[in-house]
Amino acid sequence: MGIVDKNDLTPAGLKHIAIIMDGNGRWANKRSLSRLKGHEQGAKAVREAIKGCGELGIPFLTLFAFSSENWKRPEEEVNHLMGLFRYFINRELDTLASSGVKVNFIGDINALPDDIQKLAELAKSKTAMNTDLVLTVALSYGGQHEIVRATQKLAKLAASGELSPADIDEKLFASMLDTDGLPDPDFILRTSGEKRLSNFLLWQSAYSELIFQDVLWPDFDRACLEEAIIEYQSRNRRFGAVSV
Ligand code: FPP
Repeated sequence: MGIVDKNDLTPAGLKHIAIIMDGNGRWANKRSLSRLKGHEQGAKAVREAIKGCGELGIPFLTLFAFSSENWKRPEEEVNHLMGLFRYFINRELDTLASSGVKVNFIGDINALPDDIQKLAELAKSKTAMNTDLVLTVALSYGGQHEIVRATQKLAKLAASGELSPADIDEKLFASMLDTDGLPDPDFILRTSGEKRLSNFLLWQSAYSELIFQDVLWPDFDRACLEEAIIEYQSRNRRFGAVSV
């Protein structure tokens, strides 16, 4: 048992953690290993994060696994990451399914190789009835592109006369995003010491607390997760109102 007591995480307090998993390359460089090894080790930390959130009773975890900009990386690295996603889904799906995890994906899933799209569908359908932890994996995801795609959906409805532009409000707009049905993240955690959002959950982060840790993602463990939760619990969230 760690330092965070599961009973302290009241539903009103913390529902959704979103993580920018950064630092795989630097972790590998520090050890004179190839960047690919850093990603492999990063996949192990992914398992830790999922397990930790499950055990602490946090109902939503979102992981930024591959950004729309990551396609610009060398082909070998992109292929290796795709291989890791394949391996991870194939290897972990049964465990996720039997441990109450509902798997979900956001991003431009159509841009992924066909077999990964199929695996993503399989993971979703096999875990659809689970309710303990909703694990959302952002793949080929970019917040600006997500907002553009949502706008296109609304523009189509307006052009066909099914929707009046005056009816577009924040709630309707949010329902067109990939994250429809998910609560906004309570906090976004970024590892590796970098302090920016890098196109992650731009709409959804309007009131999210931002937490930055110096740890490189492959070294992320249960203690780091609990430290982040404790930091979040020390923040005073006002959502634009005055302090109570
Ligand atoms: C950022 O580190 C990390 C990524 C671009 C990929 C994240 C992927 C994983 C953690 C592997 C597996 C994921 C799943 C869901 C199975 P970086 O390469 O940008 O590191 P750097 O900034 O130090 O170069």
